[in-house]
Amino acid sequence: MASVPSLASAVEQRVSAALSSALPEAGAADPLLRRSDRADFQANGILALAKKAKANPRELAGTVVDALDKGGVIADVEVSGPGFLNITVSDRAIVETLAARAGDDRLGVPVNEHAGTTVIDYAQPNVAKEMHVGHLRSAVIGAAMVEMLEFTGETVVRRHHIGDWGTQFGMLIQYLLEHPHELDHKAAGESSEQSGEEAMSNLNRLYKASRALFDADEEFKTRARARVVDLQAGDEQTLALWQRFVDESKIYFYSVFDKLDMDIQDPDIVGESGYNDMLVETCRLLEESGVAVRSNGALCVFFDEYKGPDGQPTPLIVQKSDGGFGYAATDLSAIRDRVGNLKASSLVYVVDARQSLHFKMVFETARRAGWLNEDVHAHQLAFGTVLGADGKPFKTREGETVRLVDLLDEAVDRATAVVREKAEKVGLSEQEIVENGRFVGIGAVKYADLSTSAARDYKFDLDQMVSLNGDTSVYLQYAYARTQSILRKAEGRSPVAHPELELAAAERTLGLHLDGFGALVSEAAAEYAPHKLAAYLYQLASLFTSFYEHCPVIKPEPELAVGENRLFLTDLTGRTLAKGMSLLGIRTPERL
Ligand code: ARG
Repeated sequence: MASVPSLASAVEQRVSAALSSALPEAGAADPLLRRSDRADFQANGILALAKKAKANPRELAGTVVDALDKGGVIADVEVSGPGFLNITVSDRAIVETLAARAGDDRLGVPVNEHAGTTVIDYAQPNVAKEMHVGHLRSAVIGAAMVEMLEFTGETVVRRHHIGDWGTQFGMLIQYLLEHPHELDHKAAGESSEQSGEEAMSNLNRLYKASRALFDADEEFKTRARARVVDLQAGDEQTLALWQRFVDESKIYFYSVFDKLDMDIQDPDIVGESGYNDMLVETCRLLEESGVAVRSNGALCVFFDEYKGPDGQPTPLIVQKSDGGFGYAATDLSAIRDRVGNLKASSLVYVVDARQSLHFKMVFETARRAGWLNEDVHAHQLAFGTVLGADGKPFKTREGETVRLVDLLDEAVDRATAVVREKAEKVGLSEQEIVENGRFVGIGAVKYADLSTSAARDYKFDLDQMVSLNGDTSVYLQYAYARTQSILRKAEGRSPVAHPELELAAAERTLGLHLDGFGALVSEAAAEYAPHKLAAYLYQLASLFTSFYEHCPVIKPEPELAVGENRLFLTDLTGRTLAKGMSLLGIRTPERL
């Protein structure tokens, strides 16, 4: 089903039509319609058009007003300031537009006619390493973008570019070969089902032990380096052990993603190793085309604009002088695969801002090589650092990276305590308390990440995250639960739109905000800006709270039509909150 056009777009169309009749040479000019506090909408576009046409803006505005179709939708229009239009819509138009949305599960979100295929690179932890808060951000922001893009009609291919290749595997594999008993770490009779935590602690133990040996024993170091060569040459026994590390790590990754209430599929995990077969050719193509040149044996790409502190150009190293391929060779090969085979029209990388230089160089190299062109848009959705309460990069008191799992568990614990406090009043069972605790705790972590613009650093502050007041997910979840509780309590009455009614101020603002959902989701998806959706939902919850304070729905019982109409607004608010939250990957419990 096509989505129902918004009231804002109906107003925009009318102003546009009036504009082109008042100033035919303006053609299909954008009237720059915005929501406004002074009226319902303000059109700001006339000023610039008047300037261009060398006309008097106030006069032009007056002509536009005369030409404006004022029946039905537009109740009042006024010229203000140097040539703005303040537009008030009719109450009837608000309710009628929203009523048309009653059976529309897209809630006014249009399907993008120019949708293409986006390959999104997100949730990319590293094999045999603990996940940290940076991986959390990539996973959370990436998953929200996947949902938002898919909902607006984009074909989305997920790629989890895990770090599953590199010299560190030489050390790990060699250690395992020399300590075969470490392979059978599970005692006989123990169940073969391994928990994520066990998998990670095994890997950690192996990592530490092999690292210690590597640092202490020169001969082991030499053997470990030789093992890297075997691995790259595809030696069977070496590859089999490497695969064990990958498999064990995946058990751990999945356990974390599961905790995060996130659906990650095996076929979408295409790590660095997935591009091994392309590396030689990538280098050959770069070298033959002259995009890359040999410099002291290494294959490098040079840029005028990127210089090190010593003023010397910083090249992108595609192949090291010892013949090894690095991160850049893999990323360049991945671009060839994503554009050439997956037919991407957009490439999005949800990666830490500290890797921005790498991506700038990789994109520029790919452009020079012709793998990226005007038809393919590559974008790093760069995110900032997660800070501790002290404003420094998030670490434990001992200066170690904080284990993601511990953080999530603590968030759930705190959230469960918050849920428990109100549980009796709401009549929640123990099982519901536990389940809601998870939804609230994980939602809190996700929302805190998604509600500030990705590029900014943010403070990881659990107290603030699970607070009931302020811009938190639990505030939104409570607003949703309230809509559902009102609907349950409205015995005998159902949500019915009544366009004939005059609306109270709080009903109008709520209604107009609901009207903007479609445009907002389109904008946030196109700009890769989930924080805009978060801000919209927070405002929706706030407007609903004030609507609920000023406009009784159940008690004191309003007149039938008024009550039904308010239930209608309540229902639409609930559905919009639930949809928006689900796009962000956050659950909305029915009772809280
Ligand atoms: N595994 C990397 C890390 O932990 C992130 C990978 C980002 N994606 C990419 N295509 N380079 O930092």
